Amino acid sequence: PRTYSHPTSPPPPRPSFGIAFDIDGVIIGGRAPIGGSPQAIQRLYARDGTLRIPFLFLTNGGGIPESKRASELSKLLGVNISPQQVVQGHTPFRELLNRFEDDPIVAVGKGDPATVMSEYGFKKVRSIDEYATYFPDIDPLAPFKPWVMNETCNKKHASKIVHPSYDVYSDRVKGVFVISDPVDWSRDIQVLCDILRTGGLPGAEKGDQPALYFASDDLEYQAAFPAERLGMGAFRIALESIYNTVNDSPLKYTSYGKPNPFVFKNAEAVLTKIVSTMHQHKEMTNGGLANSFSTLYMVGDNPKVDINGARKAGRPWFSVLTRTGVFKGKNNHAQFPADLVVDTVEEAVDCILRKEG
Ligand code: G3P
Ligand code: MG
Repeated sequence: PRTYSHPTSPPPPRPSFGIAFDIDGVIIGGRAPIGGSPQAIQRLYARDGTLRIPFLFLTNGGGIPESKRASELSKLLGVNISPQQVVQGHTPFRELLNRFEDDPIVAVGKGDPATVMSEYGFKKVRSIDEYATYFPDIDPLAPFKPWVMNETCNKKHASKIVHPSYDVYSDRVKGVFVISDPVDWSRDIQVLCDILRTGGLPGAEKGDQPALYFASDDLEYQAAFPAERLGMGAFRIALESIYNTVNDSPLKYTSYGKPNPFVFKNAEAVLTKIVSTMHQHKEMTNGGLANSFSTLYMVGDNPKVDINGARKAGRPWFSVLTRTGVFKGKNNHAQFPADLVVDTVEEAVDCILRKEG
């Protein structure tokens, strides 16, 4: 007898391209969507709401956990974004867990930096806001800052302590992590100089500098104000020049974020995992996930950061520069020319989808 095999429909083809979107100056300006971003992102989903085209957000910003950012973006853009699709400047700080898991650390920046580090698994974390409250008079300008004098504000910080932390008067701070843009520069520069010069114990004699990490080194970025705003890189310059003036040995630090090529390598690996999730199976080759991207698009607004980074990362990266943020020029950027220049993210997605057929 003849045997018949059941006809099975072939699996949908794996997309051979993926997209990384910068957030500030491309997707949002301040807090509001820009450049038709909801429409652009919605095109990457099927009618039933499932992901059709692999993409992620690759931002140098941060300050809140990836899961919270994912739900904020979902609301703003009207689609379901998973935490896996959000790579922030500080996301790779997770990899430093082995080194600092049980060490006292200080987390700096807007948002909820201590919660970010606690969720990564660090056990002894204090935000600089909370840390500073244990040292009366550490900031001589505090009496002139109405928000510091506000009692409820201090109580709010105290209630955010998630883990039993460390004794700030005897346990030396081993690492400082600048998670997001610092809010009170004058206090933060003062307190960081204290921590860094004394080996992690403000008021003590000089000691070895604790490790210092910045989530990014953006000099400027696009927020809601029409002209660019000073970013974490500007804060780094301020801290470094003051520290190097008051201290004998120069400041040692490591900066993460775009344009470092490892950020793009990591984004490629995350996009590969996203494709596997979309297709609900994992393809293993030589112990790793199969990589099938012929093109990865970086859609950004900052030539020095986004375009420079994609260029340095090389193939399969293809850079797309929008005019909704830091770059406002007519033609291409002279020093860091993009592979494609468009007005908005909506136009970027349109061009990509047409190009990919
Ligand atoms: O503070 C955020 C800023 O430095 C850059 O964000 O999304 O443009 O990489 P983004
Ligand atoms: Mg940007």
